[in-house]
Amino acid sequence: MPEDISEESLWCPSCQRSFPPTLSTIRCPSDHLLDVHPPLGNLTGEQWRILFDQRLASPIGLNRSGVWRYRELITPVDVDTTVTFPEGNTPLIASAPVAAWADIDGLALKHEGLNPTGSFKDRGMTAGVTRAKRFGAGVVACASTGNTAASLAAYAAMGGLEAVVLLPAGNVSPGKLAQARAYGARTVSVRGDFDRCLALVQAAGESLDLYLLNSINPYRIAGQQTIVLELLQQLRWAVPDWITFPAGNLGNTAAFGQALRLAHRLGIIDRVPRLAAVQAAGAAPFAHSFTGGFGDLVPVEADTIATAIRIGNPASYSRGVRAIRHTNGVVIDVDDADILAAKSVIDRAGIGCEPASAAAVAGARSLRRTGIIGAGDTVVAVLTGHLLKEPDTFAGSGSGDTVEIGDRLEELVAVLDGPSRRSPGP
Ligand code: F0G
Repeated sequence: MPEDISEESLWCPSCQRSFPPTLSTIRCPSDHLLDVHPPLGNLTGEQWRILFDQRLASPIGLNRSGVWRYRELITPVDVDTTVTFPEGNTPLIASAPVAAWADIDGLALKHEGLNPTGSFKDRGMTAGVTRAKRFGAGVVACASTGNTAASLAAYAAMGGLEAVVLLPAGNVSPGKLAQARAYGARTVSVRGDFDRCLALVQAAGESLDLYLLNSINPYRIAGQQTIVLELLQQLRWAVPDWITFPAGNLGNTAAFGQALRLAHRLGIIDRVPRLAAVQAAGAAPFAHSFTGGFGDLVPVEADTIATAIRIGNPASYSRGVRAIRHTNGVVIDVDDADILAAKSVIDRAGIGCEPASAAAVAGARSLRRTGIIGAGDTVVAVLTGHLLKEPDTFAGSGSGDTVEIGDRLEELVAVLDGPSRRSPGP
């Protein structure tokens, strides 16, 4: 397949060297992960903002995608080779009950669970699969706690590629597994955790000629940058004080840092928000490392109710450290009870999210309580996945258990007129 994106390069921030993009280039020769450097031209910050705003006002073709609207900052593409739903265009939601619970008036929720396959992964996957096609890859593969697998399977199917996904046995929600299977991926359940699955798929990638689409792939990170670009555009390019989000393998941490660095360097924004990466207490090697001043990463045996972030050895650790340092950010952990409490508030507000996502709001509340987030600060919390991804994990319903009755009116009246009946209000 002809490769006509000659100006694009892959950059190693550790070695300060660039490499030409090829099918097999995921890491530099010293084993560091790479960033995509697309050819950027020389627009001013204001010209970039006007360009993106015009595309938003007149969404035709690739402009309909909340990823490809920002295409010059992702990877050069053309309409014919782009594998897109379209994705993105997720809402920024102000919710009084959630804001009150977190004690942050200026809190907004960016709901990435409203992407086509129900998680933020679609933003990285449209970029990754598009690039895989241009490289001429035949089979794409990933290890996953479930959402990456569902997204990879969907985009591979749309792009006419074969997909292979490795999942930790017994620790993936049935809905996510069902998605991957329905979209036609080969699903392999591994008796081991996510970290083992990732090591295995990387080894298999080399021997079996699989194109890896975990977030170690630079194009995944390039696409996920648009979560931040889109939320900035929704705020009319006003910069929030904080962005909080759940962190597992640290792909999003890396992507958010990269997007903010780029947007600031191009003059699209005039300051950088602080990033707050939130881990589950039972899967918090990044938070531990932050507390120790970012010494070495000490991997952990991960355990949390939030299966999506049950990760003990994050692959994008160095990129994550860079992102937190550059944004004067913080990394904290919250325990499972806090995650469930936050999820309950988000669910009862009618918004809903999967457990891992609720860590973003639990983390915001915790940072507000310790005064790190100030009373008047503006905060965007990123909800990464849809409630239906893991519908059985919740703290209990405010409306009581589901009651089964016969089909007679008296039975219905007896149930609805009982002690759990809600007050009709004034
Ligand atoms: N939230 C959800 C819903 C996720 O699925 C993930 C990661 C994260 C947060 C953490 O993001 O890894 O970029 O720090 N899920 C991956 C998967 C690991 O396989 O679906 P991260």
